[in-house]
Amino acid sequence: MGRDLPDLVSIQKWKRSWFFVATVASILALVSVIHLFLFPLAPSFNYFKLQQNSCLPTNSSAELPSTDVSKNFEPAIDLKHQFPSDLHGAVVYRGAPWKAEIGRWLAGCDSVTKKINVTEIIAASVCKNDCSGQGVCNWESGQCRCFHGYAGDGCAERIQFECNYPGSPDHPFGRWVVSICPANCDKTKAMCFCGEGTKYPDRPLAEACGFQFIPSSEPGVPKRIDWAKVDPDVFTTNSSKEGWCNVDPAEAYAHKVKFKAECDCKYDGLWGHFCEVPVQSTCINQCSLHGHCRGGFCQCDNGWYGVDCSIPSVTSSIREWPSWLRPAQVDVPENLHFEGRKINLNASVEKKRPLIYVYDLPPEFNSLLLEGRHFKLECVNRIYDGSNATIWTDQLYGAQIALYESILASPHRTLNGEEADFFFVPVLDSCIITRADDAPHLSLQEHRGLRSSLTLEYYKKAHDHIVEQYPYWNRSSGRDHIWFFSWDEGACYAPKEIWDSMMLVHWGNTNLKHNHSTTAYWGDNWDKIHPNRRGNHSCFDPDKDLVLPAWKVPDAGALTSKLWDRPREMRKTMFYFNGNLGPAYPKGRPEDSYSMGIRQKLAAEFGSTPDKNGHLGRQHAEDVIVTPLRSGNYHLDLASSIFCGVLPGDGWSGRMEDSILQGCIPVVIQDGIFLPYENFLNYDSFAVRISEDEIPNLIQILRGFNDTEIKLKLENVQKIWQRFLYRGSVLLEAERQKTTVGRVDDWAVEFSNLIEDDVFTTFIQVLHYKLHNDPWRQQVHLNKEYGLPTRCVASTNYGA
Ligand SMILES: *[C@@H]1O[C@H](CO)[C@@H](O)[C@H](O)[C@H]1NC(C)=O
Ligand SMILES: *[C@@H]1O[C@H](CO)[C@@H](O)[C@H](O)[C@H]1NC(C)=O
Ligand SMILES: *[C@@H]1O[C@H](CO)[C@@H](O)[C@H](O)[C@H]1NC(C)=O
Ligand SMILES: *[C@@H]1O[C@H](CO)[C@@H](O)[C@H](O)[C@H]1NC(C)=O
Ligand SMILES: *[C@@H]1O[C@H](CO)[C@@H](O)[C@H](O)[C@H]1NC(C)=O
Ligand SMILES: *[C@@H]1O[C@H](CO)[C@@H](O)[C@H](O)[C@H]1NC(C)=O
Ligand SMILES: *[C@@H]1O[C@H](CO)[C@@H](O)[C@H](O)[C@H]1NC(C)=O
Ligand SMILES: *[C@@H]1O[C@H](CO)[C@@H](O)[C@H](O)[C@H]1NC(C)=O
Ligand SMILES: *[C@@H]1O[C@H](CO)[C@@H](O)[C@H](O)[C@H]1NC(C)=O
Repeated sequence: MGRDLPDLVSIQKWKRSWFFVATVASILALVSVIHLFLFPLAPSFNYFKLQQNSCLPTNSSAELPSTDVSKNFEPAIDLKHQFPSDLHGAVVYRGAPWKAEIGRWLAGCDSVTKKINVTEIIAASVCKNDCSGQGVCNWESGQCRCFHGYAGDGCAERIQFECNYPGSPDHPFGRWVVSICPANCDKTKAMCFCGEGTKYPDRPLAEACGFQFIPSSEPGVPKRIDWAKVDPDVFTTNSSKEGWCNVDPAEAYAHKVKFKAECDCKYDGLWGHFCEVPVQSTCINQCSLHGHCRGGFCQCDNGWYGVDCSIPSVTSSIREWPSWLRPAQVDVPENLHFEGRKINLNASVEKKRPLIYVYDLPPEFNSLLLEGRHFKLECVNRIYDGSNATIWTDQLYGAQIALYESILASPHRTLNGEEADFFFVPVLDSCIITRADDAPHLSLQEHRGLRSSLTLEYYKKAHDHIVEQYPYWNRSSGRDHIWFFSWDEGACYAPKEIWDSMMLVHWGNTNLKHNHSTTAYWGDNWDKIHPNRRGNHSCFDPDKDLVLPAWKVPDAGALTSKLWDRPREMRKTMFYFNGNLGPAYPKGRPEDSYSMGIRQKLAAEFGSTPDKNGHLGRQHAEDVIVTPLRSGNYHLDLASSIFCGVLPGDGWSGRMEDSILQGCIPVVIQDGIFLPYENFLNYDSFAVRISEDEIPNLIQILRGFNDTEIKLKLENVQKIWQRFLYRGSVLLEAERQKTTVGRVDDWAVEFSNLIEDDVFTTFIQVLHYKLHNDPWRQQVHLNKEYGLPTRCVASTNYGA
């Protein structure tokens, strides 16, 4: 029956025989096993392949006598002796100065990691009614992931999401919420459209568009909107009034008719001022070429599933399996049916640890948040223009999607939770928080407007889900689980139940000094969250958590001008800081608590622009710039400086990234707060840390560094700057654009020329170190293949 399976010459034929096997075979005994070997295709932007090949032979790894991992022959190697730390206390691995113990383990162990055979499980649990065409079947659990507006076992139930809060005589459309709608509410998503009776019934009528303005009494005061009164003109057919729902785009572009400017096209998947051009929406990994992006939710092709349609089931063609499942050897038993049910298939795939299992959570934690977005730029790092070209955004919270996409497409991903070293729980706080006010069903009201509290609830629900549905959490109390909190202050509002896990954040407040919420925006404050829900954990624990760089827009121009590479001679400014400096300055943030008062202190000493009273800082100097005024070329200003200030805003402020990417030595001033990789990289090799109390001596301290020391720090910045880029994620997009429409943009070319380790690679190195060096793992009884010499796994209970 399955005998013609190995005939892979003809895909058609193979598919037919697969179908044959899958439907006809039904004998219980496992009669024969057929091996299918598949080898990776080589796409032109094969990022991960590049990564592996570009492993620069370091002095250290070259000296290793043997890469034999067998337990019997084990050369005695003393890592400490072989990889001594340098004068700054660092051990260099792949260009980066690591904290000695970490760098040592990476240089001696990560560098010699071998592939192991991992059993990947290709699932076969069918869903009820095939999810009625209103959802995607998760073949692992047999549960449907229903699109917006559908629910129940087989997604047969419809649910209604109101656009408006209940109305009253004074407020017929209810109180304000982003989804407030005076026309046709699409209750599957709580989004507002012009509706029947208009010339363009499917045209969005988003937020302010449908309401009247209150004429302002004084010039210069921004227009206010009367959320109780419909603007009848948006439905007008009188071409000399400002209309919307009946305006013909061609006539409007030709200035023949007027239109209401506030009605611009806000919803994703539509382009042109009048939303007249359908374009791609943003989906996780754009559905991996195995599905259609439905406004943010991937509608997968038959047999594929997962948030990004990257997981094949037993009914999908092996030929199309993603690269992280290749090369695979698949055991196909004679019988694929057992008592009428299809059975899972095991695929043996060669992989390197660490292995990460990614939960396919119910869509309320990710896809639905994307699908119901009211502003296309909300919580995504890219959108698509009228010709479906990628537009990268400088969305502050874009790193969350970038990392998620990289993990999903990574060769370190596994579908087998039993083999996994880490478990990634993809709850998107960047979407929850930016969308908190979007629609009534998101229930911000129940949290008295506190987005921090709303977000805590989402994470808690995700925790409850995985505790109930999967066996993995209980085994380690979640200590091998990973969560991402991208918001300003990081994981401060993590529910107490998940605090044992590893938190990925952009700002690592240990709360040693700043022991309360530091944001000046009340809705994000977490001080008021009850200890029953939050516990009393800090925001960051350097023993388990990791600060990752924030998202910076991929800019081909910045790469071609090589700002990071500018030598010391081109850096005439001694110290540079540009940003909001607080109430003493025009347009300064009024709160004393902004930036925890740190920027204000810096400005009082070194301000180089007159404040409201016309005063410069007490110690202002010609080669020291501390200013709230942004010049036309911020990046060039940074690249013309030796030292650049890294001070907080409302939590993180991306200054570390700005500094490093422009080749400037970061000067960190925020006590008890960790910056990207600070608990792993050796900051002393490339940065300077100054305590808040030392601010008055700042310039004196910086001038105390001799030329050798400055040169060394600058060189190290140049060696690690790519670790602040989400290059892997950018290249995944480059590859998609190239494969689907043959488009190769400037940014794609520039990013594919970079070869050093990026954010994702660094993240994997950190996880690999943690896998064998986290003290708690020694208590966990794991007898697994690690692909490492025993000296590298000595601290785990290897083979016990
Ligand atoms: C090894 O490192 C030393 C000093 O770090 C350097 O002088 C030497 O050239 C390196 N050797 C190789 C083969 O890279
Ligand atoms: C994985 O299994 C295949 C087939 O049994 C074998 O040829 C290969 O050497 C194995 N790879 C590793 C790393 O053990
Ligand atoms: C169209 O609007 C203009 C300006 O408000 C008004 O003067 C004119 O009478 C309107 N035309 C019709 C047919 O209502
Ligand atoms: C862009 O993508 C959308 C959605 O896939 C499609 O409908 C449209 O035709 C595409 N536009 C172009 C110019 O290719
Ligand atoms: C797949 O592997 C599991 C254990 O890892 C085993 O129980 C199951 O029988 C295997 N299935 C097939 C079809 O070989
Ligand atoms: C994990 O532990 C919790 C609490 O003890 C329990 O309610 C839950 O059922 C357990 N989960 C699994 C999958 O066994
Ligand atoms: C924060 O620290 C201050 C002094 O350092 C202390 O008085 C206060 O009680 C602390 N607050 C909390 C919530 O721990
Ligand atoms: C607060 O933290 C302390 C020490 O970190 C711990 O002993 C105490 O039990 C915690 N209290 C609560 C209510 O969780
Ligand atoms: C420069 O400073 C470093 C660190 O303080 C010191 O070790 C080194 O000797 C100094 N070099 C010179 C040439 O003064």
